[in-house]
Amino acid sequence: MKPMKKVLWVLLLAAVAAAGGLYWAGTRDDASTGPAAAADAATLVERGRYLALAGNCMACHTSRGGKALAGGTPIPTPFGTVYGPNITPDEQTGIGAWTADDFWQALHNGKSRDGTLLYPAFPYTEYTRITRADSDALYAYLRSVPPVSQPSRPPELDFPYDRRALLAAWRALYFKPGVQDDDAGQSVQWNRGRYLVEGLGHCAACHTPRNGMGALRSDQSLAGGVIPVLDWYAPPLTNDMQTGLGRWSAEDIAALLKTGISRHSSASGPMAEVVLGSTQHLSDGDALAIGVYLKSLPAGPAAADPPKAAVSPAAMELGGKLYRQQCAQCHQPAGEGSGAAWPALAGNPTVTAPSPVNAIRMVLDGGYAPATAANPRPHGMPPFGQSLNDGDVAMLVSYIRNSWGNEAGGVTPLEVKRARAASTRN
Ligand code: HEC
Ligand code: HEC
Ligand code: HEC
Repeated sequence: MKPMKKVLWVLLLAAVAAAGGLYWAGTRDDASTGPAAAADAATLVERGRYLALAGNCMACHTSRGGKALAGGTPIPTPFGTVYGPNITPDEQTGIGAWTADDFWQALHNGKSRDGTLLYPAFPYTEYTRITRADSDALYAYLRSVPPVSQPSRPPELDFPYDRRALLAAWRALYFKPGVQDDDAGQSVQWNRGRYLVEGLGHCAACHTPRNGMGALRSDQSLAGGVIPVLDWYAPPLTNDMQTGLGRWSAEDIAALLKTGISRHSSASGPMAEVVLGSTQHLSDGDALAIGVYLKSLPAGPAAADPPKAAVSPAAMELGGKLYRQQCAQCHQPAGEGSGAAWPALAGNPTVTAPSPVNAIRMVLDGGYAPATAANPRPHGMPPFGQSLNDGDVAMLVSYIRNSWGNEAGGVTPLEVKRARAASTRN
């Protein structure tokens, strides 16, 4: 081959190769139907599905016995009831006509497609930290679920909270939109944990006390408090030794989130629902990242605790008698429990919490830790609300709150009466 011809061949081959490259690039770019694009779309939907579980969208957008994500779920607030709307891709009644930008506007800014300001019962005050990429994945997932034609239910709020225009003032005071920036001084794991706790997982919605306007108190972040209307006490997620997670390791926290039980206590009431619907589906890495982040929080400030009520020796004596008759066979004579299945009551944060309401409600209604993949058949606690009167329950709970090293203060029959009322209401 003469040198000139050789050069031509090389040029020709180069041109063919370049055209081939352009061809492949072209199919990737404009044909959203190609196999590679379909695989990308499937991965995006799958990621969105995982994020929807981590964010527990179903808890408020799927009603009991209703179709998935079609709305109608009542969310009780001190101002009345708000209903989770239909977020299936139905054109008329759901978000079928929404673009990814419209969806981002809702998640990040708390505004509906037509600009209507949304009530913060939708935790966009936390979801605003979600990244645009995660918002797009959630959007892709929501477009993949079966559309359901079901008009959303308007809120039933008391005057003046039924005026959405008031939300403009509320937002000016209590809402600052903004994606969470990573803290470069912290590990990838810590940043992931913070993103899940403060953004998608919206743990603050229950674990941070609220002010009279229903806004989270930023000065008491994750400091714990009684959840309005639900009347369950969500303990501090800070590291206070007595009432918070001071004695828990990051692994203990991950275990509670994944399995519903831990060596300190088991999840009950609203937390059992969070584990069931959301955190049990977290990857091991994400559950541990949450634990690592929470362990980095300071010990306080704990929410202002009510003064501890005194307990009379007579209540301790009668309470102790009832305990040995009714409870000791499972929780053991010195409240030491047995294994993870029958929780210890000595040193148990549910028992020693500043508010006795969770312990009272456990005794009244009994309950199960959530059935999770890792703990499919949890042991149950029988209800005692029928067999014991308010006075008995008050003495019993006073006894477990003040025995075996517990020093949490006494409980009155009136508190038991109120807990009974809350338990029938919800
Ligand atoms: C604690 C309850 C709660 C959770 C959890 C929740 N939502 Fe909502 N969401 C609501 C309520 C209530 C509204 C309606 C507020 C209103 O009417 O002003 C709403 C509204 C919306 C809207 C606007 C719909 C419209 O028609 O304007 C979208 C979109 C939405 N949610 C998506 C999500 C996604 C995605 C998740 C999970 C990442 C989620 N929600 C989790 C309660 C919740
Ligand atoms: C048949 C066994 C059994 C008996 C009897 C029993 N419990 Fe329980 N108890 C359990 C189990 C199992 C749990 C964990 C269930 C859960 O997490 O929902 C539990 C949970 C609790 C909790 C919540 C602990 C936590 O970590 O959240 C308290 C408080 C409690 N029991 C108090 C009592 C008292 C007081 C009595 C007597 C009136 C009693 N129990 C009788 C089995 C029993
Ligand atoms: C819907 C309200 C709600 C949300 C949202 C919520 N929690 Fe809870 N959580 C509770 C309540 C109520 C309790 C106390 C009942 C109990 O002991 O399980 C609790 C208890 C806990 C406990 C202590 C477990 C125990 O039993 O003592 C941990 C740890 C915890 N939550 C972590 C979290 C994390 C992390 C998130 C966010 C991913 C979260 N929670 C979101 C309501 C909630």
